[in-house]
Amino acid sequence: MAKPILVANWKNYPSSLDESRRILRNYSKDRSLYKKLHFFVAPPLPYLDAVAAFSGFVGLGCQDISSVPKGTHTGVVGSDILKSFGVRITILGHSERRALGENSGDVAVKVGAALASGIVPLICVGENTKDADGEHFEYIREQLKDSLSGLKKSDASKIIIAYEPVWAIGKDAVGAMEPEELSQSALFIRKILTEMFGRNIAGRIPVLYGGSVDEGNADTLAAVPGVAGFLVGRASLDAKRFKKIAEALSKKK
Ligand code: PGA
Repeated sequence: MAKPILVANWKNYPSSLDESRRILRNYSKDRSLYKKLHFFVAPPLPYLDAVAAFSGFVGLGCQDISSVPKGTHTGVVGSDILKSFGVRITILGHSERRALGENSGDVAVKVGAALASGIVPLICVGENTKDADGEHFEYIREQLKDSLSGLKKSDASKIIIAYEPVWAIGKDAVGAMEPEELSQSALFIRKILTEMFGRNIAGRIPVLYGGSVDEGNADTLAAVPGVAGFLVGRASLDAKRFKKIAEALSKKK
């Protein structure tokens, strides 16, 4: 099996450069563990260089990119600039960005921009509310299709999907998804990707899980078939907790 993927989504934390360096130094105590994974940190942009200093075991990520084409645009950081800093992967369509008004059409444009700059798009999809009747599958189907609209078959194997049920994300979450439910959703996403790009290509697109992954649930969630890794928010800011998550993934068969 390909190496599992672990992405730390630092969001708008930590609150200082010193603190981000401290977290990275703590991660680095377990560098041989992280090297068993495809490990990325997506920090706030001013910390990119700090993360890049640990490139021996961390890949550089970011949390969003601009959809504005190259040119004179005050306030924009273009994807080519990010690429030149060493960014290899970008989270796109995170629910916290969708909550600010970003829609799947915007995400689709950003997927194209990331690929054009040679950055791997990690596209987040997931239902807003927990639903026992399976209604949310239609929601996921639509979000996935719209967020990937215009993506060429020849580019489809260059993307990563993160399944993040919105109700499971962040400090107000009820907790992570149950492994049985996650397995169904991962299978469903694979089915949609197969409809869109064919079995061969769909089989090469990793599907990650995100939403309240922590040291207590990482083992069972990592064992879910069809889940190639995790996108982790809160627990990634604490190196001790995060290490346990990395260990769980590194044991994935
Ligand atoms: P969480 O966030 O791990 O804090 O729930 C995950 C995410 O938003 O990517």
